[in-house]
Amino acid sequence: MPHYQIVKGARDIFPDEMIQWKRVEAVIGGLASIYGFSEIRTPVFEYTELFQRSIGASTDIVGKEMFSFQPEPGGRSITLRPEMTAGVMRAALQKNLLASSPVQKLYYISELFRKERPQAGRQRQFSQFGAELLGAASPAAVAEVIIFMMHVFESLGLSGLRLRINTLGNKTDRQRYREALRAYLAPYYRQLDDASKERFEKNPLRILDSKNPDMQDIVAGAPKLHDYLGGEALDDFEKVLAYLSDRGIDFQIDHLLVRGLDYYSYTAFEVTSSALGAQDALGGGGRYDSLALELGNASEIPAAGFAVGMERLLIAMQKQGLFSQQEAPGPAVAVIVPQQEYFDRAFGIVNLLRRSGISTVIDLAGRSMKAQLREANRMHASWALFVGGEELATGQYPLKNLVASTQETHTLDGVVDVLRQSASVNPHCG
Ligand code: HAM
Repeated sequence: MPHYQIVKGARDIFPDEMIQWKRVEAVIGGLASIYGFSEIRTPVFEYTELFQRSIGASTDIVGKEMFSFQPEPGGRSITLRPEMTAGVMRAALQKNLLASSPVQKLYYISELFRKERPQAGRQRQFSQFGAELLGAASPAAVAEVIIFMMHVFESLGLSGLRLRINTLGNKTDRQRYREALRAYLAPYYRQLDDASKERFEKNPLRILDSKNPDMQDIVAGAPKLHDYLGGEALDDFEKVLAYLSDRGIDFQIDHLLVRGLDYYSYTAFEVTSSALGAQDALGGGGRYDSLALELGNASEIPAAGFAVGMERLLIAMQKQGLFSQQEAPGPAVAVIVPQQEYFDRAFGIVNLLRRSGISTVIDLAGRSMKAQLREANRMHASWALFVGGEELATGQYPLKNLVASTQETHTLDGVVDVLRQSASVNPHCG
């Protein structure tokens, strides 16, 4: 057993799985550019107040899941980011991004940290890909982020997805509803579980999407948020839904969908996957116009976005067998050194081949020729090039095609020509 173990709730990603990540990331990057989203990276930590202010003091994330610390005794507290939206908005405001162009479309693939109880699909360090559309929250803008997200799932081949969508109305709608909900829940107060009791005062809407069946029974008879919405929110919602229908996206309206972050208004949505277990939420998002104001901006900035858990996305894809064809491409050539005394000269040839754009490996452990060839085959090298005393003296090198088991002899220039024509040549070199 190694002396040190990985921290609970974190994961190593080894090269085999990295291939899968890269494939998913390439699809995300490709579609992001088709939809006009540019990549942004923000720091892994922010001042703690940023998250308290944006995600909301009454949420689970801020209440108990943040990794916070004070770098200097008595100094300002810093938190490892538990989500990206707040940091992206902070960066956009700080740089005054919207002054250069009034609509900013940004996407990210980033690591996040939440002090949750680790289990399958729930980690303490995890990654999200997501998009934030700042400066517009017309129904088309909201539909655009949902369509982008669903397009990524579709391109990756995922099935068994369920998109649930709701409108949370505007602030006034929600205020009126909050009071009605509290009035309804008050007689049940003693039956509420601890989490719901806490939410009763701070944010009773969160009780609506409680996973506790007893709470669900109580909530079943509660007034419906939908009945408290003004015409503006309802019209807006209808339009968003119409755009999704036009695009052929299936959705279910779920009037109990509230989401666990406080910054949402109007449309909110969540996608679950039947390939996942208890933690079946693949992604979610919504409109969050008031976030900028909460962060000290002079006015609201219309905005909408989503985030998808990368690990859950990969788990769902693995369960659905969407990676079965994946295999690491082998090197073009393995340079085989029959006698170690010629290693240095062979190493020089390796460098020459690599600088010609040819992916090349050489045994660095001084193993026998047989072991070198075994390793070359294990790595799925296409060719083996033999560099020994005789070859160096005559300038004629045996080049074995490891796939066809044929062998030719070439000068070094000839070797480069043959290998350059083979598939593994990297066009960025040479
Ligand atoms: P969220 O619903 O908190 O939203 O997270 C989005 C997704 O991140 C979840 O559906 C899940 O797939 C993944 N996720 C969350 N926590 C964990 C965890 N502990 N382990 C593994 N995966 C996890 C947000 O974060 C919002 N910022 C989304 C958004 C963007 N809204 C507007 N713009």
